[in-house]
Amino acid sequence: MKENEKEITGFSKLNKRDKIYWLAKNFLYASPVEVLKEFAEYWHDNIEAQKLLDGFSENTLTNFPVPFGIAPNFKINDLMYAVPLVTEESSVVAAASNAAKYWLSRGGFKATVASTKKVGQVHFTYHGNKEKLFRFFEGIKDELKKDVKSITAKMEERGGGVLDMELIDLSHLEPDYYQLRAYFETVDSMGANFINSCLEVFGEQLAQKVETSVVFNDTEKEIEIVMCILSNYTPECVVTAEVSCKVDELGTFENGNISAEEFAWKFERAINIARIDPYRATTHNKGIMNGIDAVVIATGNDFRAVEACAHTYACRDGVYRSLSECKVENGVFTFWLTIPIAIGTVGGLTSLHPLAKRSLELLGNPNAKKLMEIIACVGLAQNFAAIRSLTTTGIQAGHMKMHLTNILASMKASDEEILKAKAYFEDKLVSVSGVREFLDKARGLKTNS
Ligand code: MEV
Repeated sequence: MKENEKEITGFSKLNKRDKIYWLAKNFLYASPVEVLKEFAEYWHDNIEAQKLLDGFSENTLTNFPVPFGIAPNFKINDLMYAVPLVTEESSVVAAASNAAKYWLSRGGFKATVASTKKVGQVHFTYHGNKEKLFRFFEGIKDELKKDVKSITAKMEERGGGVLDMELIDLSHLEPDYYQLRAYFETVDSMGANFINSCLEVFGEQLAQKVETSVVFNDTEKEIEIVMCILSNYTPECVVTAEVSCKVDELGTFENGNISAEEFAWKFERAINIARIDPYRATTHNKGIMNGIDAVVIATGNDFRAVEACAHTYACRDGVYRSLSECKVENGVFTFWLTIPIAIGTVGGLTSLHPLAKRSLELLGNPNAKKLMEIIACVGLAQNFAAIRSLTTTGIQAGHMKMHLTNILASMKASDEEILKAKAYFEDKLVSVSGVREFLDKARGLKTNS
């Protein structure tokens, strides 16, 4: 190993202590001993538990704690839930809880899942006659399904498997480029490994079948498999969450200064703006994902996959739009969200991470469809809370109040100062300079007394 240099070979072979020392020596100002002490503070007391966490990733030095919170009072399809949320953004849990409580007295949330269909692709190059390839493909589809029987048998017992496959000609976009697109049902698992394993067999078998077939001449036989991978775009794996009530049941806002009718009108307008303007839609959808990601992470699912899919879906008609919609019709306010969410409740981290397991237990050990419903409702709640704040008080009042604890922590406020500051800012606008001023004054008074 080279010492005191930023390049290293064999980093992954070092033990944790040596990794931290090398890092501190070459990239940090603090001494290796100090850094080791700091990182060690976040190690799990239980060696086995730490080993498990280390195994989720590579080159693990320590753990990076993020708050695990609960948003209670979610009534979804007439069942009550206390939803676990893992997020570092202040106000996300409070906003979700607040919206859940608000809708609890107005019938709660309704959610439905359209399908849990997943998609995978074999991307390949073929230089021959198109019609020949399409005819041949139709003839070998069932054989290809049989070729993956050893992988699909267990999934089929659970009600899943390969649903269908099709050949797509994209050679007008990229020379000689074709795609085998396969559709899968993975029931309660996210199914990434299952899908990718099937696709690799499809690719290999397709190439082999073409090569050994008498249908193709020598130049046509050379199919080149470029790659086999699932698609994180699952536009049919969609869930819809909805809330609805009579406009006059919405209540009044801003101490009675905003009537239910005015609120409904402004709210609908805010949603419509996010339907037409991608700049606003991006922030709007980010707010939805604040809630969605937090549950996805808490239940041990892949939030990057959910994020990627949501944003592709948001621009499925060519314009990036809000994922939620609103209508006020015949005196009824209806607000809903339609979003693809490919997640699982078995396999992967869902059954390995102790807190993910606990999260799922908290939610009644749901199947994938139920979890999709819960996640979508939290996204809708989060969006409702954001738009309600934006169109009534403005976002900063609530945000900064929630952020007060962070500001106080950054200024190293004592427990007593925190209590006093919270009481002081209860009816005032929070700002960094305001908190600084408050603390300076309080500290000045203390020293004087
Ligand atoms: C902040 O994390 C999310 C919001 O910006 C969402 C929105 O503007 O709708 C408040």
